[in-house]
Amino acid sequence: MFRATLLTLFPAMFPGPLGQSLAGDALARGLWACETRDIREHGLGKHRAVDDTPAGGGFGMVMRADVLAASLDAAAAADDARPKLVMSPRGAPFTQRQAREWAAGPGLVILCPRFEGVDERVIAGRGLIEVSIGDYVLSGGEIAALAILDACVRLIPGVMGKEESGHEESFETGLLEYPQYTRPREWEGRAIPDILLSGDHAKIAKWRRAEAERITRERRPDLALDLPRP
Ligand code: ADE
Repeated sequence: MFRATLLTLFPAMFPGPLGQSLAGDALARGLWACETRDIREHGLGKHRAVDDTPAGGGFGMVMRADVLAASLDAAAAADDARPKLVMSPRGAPFTQRQAREWAAGPGLVILCPRFEGVDERVIAGRGLIEVSIGDYVLSGGEIAALAILDACVRLIPGVMGKEESGHEESFETGLLEYPQYTRPREWEGRAIPDILLSGDHAKIAKWRRAEAERITRERRPDLALDLPRP
């Protein structure tokens, strides 16, 4: 079973939205597990401090390596095969490929930092993988961890039914998705493209491919590098 362990100062943020809908149903069906660990339990002193001022000076606070290591060690035994992630805007960009790989594994241990970041030494000391969900700064790692878990959980065998199954969706084909329509045939003067109502499946597939390529070229030229020129 895919086991997620979240290390956070805000355990109440989990499972949060992952307790609903597809991921929530899968959680209730025992297809994955979501465990939280409060980093504060390993905090130091009367105030259970988890952070301190940055060495060398500067603004903000840095989460302590000793506190984070104690929390990680309590959460995952030495023989735990799960990748250990730390959410960070400077991490490697999270991708659909990465989601597929992690979804096929035993689960994830995810450290969700607050404040300015974590002491660099715990990253090497515990073999943490720094992961970013995009080029913007969140106020903490929790929402990034939720995004990563959502992308992984839906790929766990048995979570998505045939209905939701995403073989043609964005990124799975290397392209952004083609436009979709449903009834009514005309809405506010806008009609469904005739070809989709033609019943000619070969022509429809060709149209969809062309539309996916057009949208990918327009919106994500970085993904469209290998596409033939129109
Ligand atoms: N923490 C703050 N911003 C983040 C981001 N963009 N990705 C992952 N973790 C973060």
